[in-house]
Amino acid sequence: MMATDTQRLEGEIQALKRETSTIVLAHYYQVTDVQDVGDFLGDSLGLSRKAASVTSASNIVFAAVDFMAEVAKILNPSKHVYMPDRTASCPMADRLRAAEVLQHKQRFPGLPVVLYVNTLAEAKAECDVICTSANAVEVCSKVARAWGKDTIIMGPDRNLSHHVEREAGIKVVTMPERGCCYVHDQFSTEDVEYQRQRFPGAKLVVHPECKPDVQEAADFVGSTTQMLRYIEGGMADCQEYVVGTEQGLLDHLAKKHQVLRLHSLAPVPQGVACKNMKKTTLQKVRDVLLAIKAGTAGDREVLVDEQIAARARRSIDAMFTYSTASG
Ligand code: 13P
Ligand code: SF4
Repeated sequence: MMATDTQRLEGEIQALKRETSTIVLAHYYQVTDVQDVGDFLGDSLGLSRKAASVTSASNIVFAAVDFMAEVAKILNPSKHVYMPDRTASCPMADRLRAAEVLQHKQRFPGLPVVLYVNTLAEAKAECDVICTSANAVEVCSKVARAWGKDTIIMGPDRNLSHHVEREAGIKVVTMPERGCCYVHDQFSTEDVEYQRQRFPGAKLVVHPECKPDVQEAADFVGSTTQMLRYIEGGMADCQEYVVGTEQGLLDHLAKKHQVLRLHSLAPVPQGVACKNMKKTTLQKVRDVLLAIKAGTAGDREVLVDEQIAARARRSIDAMFTYSTASG
């Protein structure tokens, strides 16, 4: 898109936000144009915390994927929550249905069930506590201690389960057994070896959705915001990083800090993209705001059944009780 088109759309978006009493929450995996019009930019924990504290606006436009927008709706039942593209979903979240959570509870009675925030509201309604990649270790260890158990049930990401087992020293039964994020699970130890050879002075930082052997080879494993803080905090000593996550974070950091030399762990210039996160464009953000103004945005509104929302809210609130992390 031409710079002038971008500026025109940004101007329209800012005016429409004011006219419609709307705030825009955006995830770091959004394209940078969309990140730039966000009133708040965050990882899934930061966005959940922000969604919990929205008081001024009547509407929330959530630029991310649907499970994150559902959390905003669950925490703000009286507000309208919209997505610029209502089809943006997370395939890993979509795979774990409520029935599978219930089956595991029957199979392993007495074990606490911790679900990753990357789940549908119907699954959240059946679990005990939610966690995100930023607080999974803290939440899972505290839950295991509170329940007096050395094992928990967790889903839907087997790689995050590995991270928790390693860092919290507890056992995890994962459901579904082979659940993972296709974006992060594609990084391999061959990529690590190759990129370490190409960039010997660089530090390797990766998301806990990466494979166990990739996590083990990294200098730092953390959520999107934790990786960002690690890189920004270390910039005085090291300006070169190989990053094992979605390209949006690298684009954000590259725009903010021109001194940084950033390389995706995937040895291709374009890095790796989450197709669903990338469905949102600046035009779609403008269009949903126009539709909110015209009263025709119902097709992009995120609604959660009231009973499911009330039960899912208990497990999200439990996360806030257990977690001190800010996201
Ligand atoms: P964060 O918790 O780091 O925002 O990650 C969410 C996600 O979907 C990662 O793929
Ligand atoms: Fe889901 Fe992976 Fe996309 Fe995150 S990056 S939304 S886990 S598919």
